[in-house]
Amino acid sequence: MTGQIILAPMEGVLDYYLRDLITSINNYDYCVSEFIRVYGVVFPKRFFLREVPELATGGLTKSGTPVWVQLLGSEPKVMADNAKVCASLGAKGIDLNFGCPSKFVHRSNGGAAMLKNPPLLGEVIKEVRDALPGEIPLSVKIRLGWEDPNEAETIVKECIANGANKIVIHARTKKDGYLPNTVKWENIAPLKELAQKDNITVVANGDIVSKETAQNCQLITKCDDLMVGRFAIAIPNLERVIRGEEQKLQHDKLGKLLLCYLDKLKGNLNEHYQKARTKQFFGYIRMAYPELGEVFKAICHQETISDIANILTKLAQGSLSPDKVYEGKSHLQNENAKS
Ligand SMILES: Cc1cc2nc3c(=O)[nH]c(=O)nc-3n(C[C@H](O)[C@H](O)[C@H](O)COP(=O)(O)O)c2cc1C
Repeated sequence: MTGQIILAPMEGVLDYYLRDLITSINNYDYCVSEFIRVYGVVFPKRFFLREVPELATGGLTKSGTPVWVQLLGSEPKVMADNAKVCASLGAKGIDLNFGCPSKFVHRSNGGAAMLKNPPLLGEVIKEVRDALPGEIPLSVKIRLGWEDPNEAETIVKECIANGANKIVIHARTKKDGYLPNTVKWENIAPLKELAQKDNITVVANGDIVSKETAQNCQLITKCDDLMVGRFAIAIPNLERVIRGEEQKLQHDKLGKLLLCYLDKLKGNLNEHYQKARTKQFFGYIRMAYPELGEVFKAICHQETISDIANILTKLAQGSLSPDKVYEGKSHLQNENAKS
């Protein structure tokens, strides 16, 4: 397929280490950082360098994929001043989060709460666009509306009128949350047509899980460019799969990749965090590899990171029989006792 494929922002999931891993085996056009909540103050450079460590390496992941910084907030001037700091640090682009469904961020009018106030949303976009150097692209990430997809037209008009260069549309409303079967790709097509008149790119997002769904999404939304989130983790080489360059990874390659992930975490995060992140990663993998459900259970029951590494090593060696790995832990314990 032609068109860009973008790795979505996922707070608490697609952090620096997972972005590093995933971009090392794909050719994503760019990725977007987890959201940074902006309220009241302009954060110092060191804060952004901690939140988005790629800013210290030219705004690129180790394998050279550009990283855009995502900001979440509702105060036009404060958002603009923070965006300026990110640009001065080498962010390859700025993305504004107007889609987060969390009640916590809505308390300060952030995320999807902004969909209920299109004029303020427009003000934030304008102030940020005016503050950024011309060469730094500005995108906005929205949902179709707060509760009614018909709200999208007004929202998109605000984005266009106030200088957004790109609009990423998660084809759900806030009310839809992440519920299955609520994605409405067909609602993106007229919005794409609207934005196209002003040469503004629309990126389609939501429930793209394979090469076929990517093609279908392009067909229905009329968008060339796509953003992928949850299944970019569930199928770690999803970009390659969508482009028809590779099949989804075999179990042994998955095992090797996960061991590589453990290596990246080692020495950087404490053991508790390493375990939590690895379990979370495997939890996503299980969505695309249901046959590894027992392996997931076994991983969840391990107490140490080296026990998890043992399972992953077996997966990488092809010496694990997925349906036998978890029998109340005993199968693995027996195996370990034997060796
Ligand atoms: C755990 C999780 C964290 C997310 N964090 C963010 C975020 O920080 N910023 C954002 O704009 N969207 C965030 N999203 C939304 C995704 O970027 C994406 O729009 C959504 O998951 C739909 O795409 P998908 O079906 O390909 O996953 C998050 C989604 C999930 C499930």
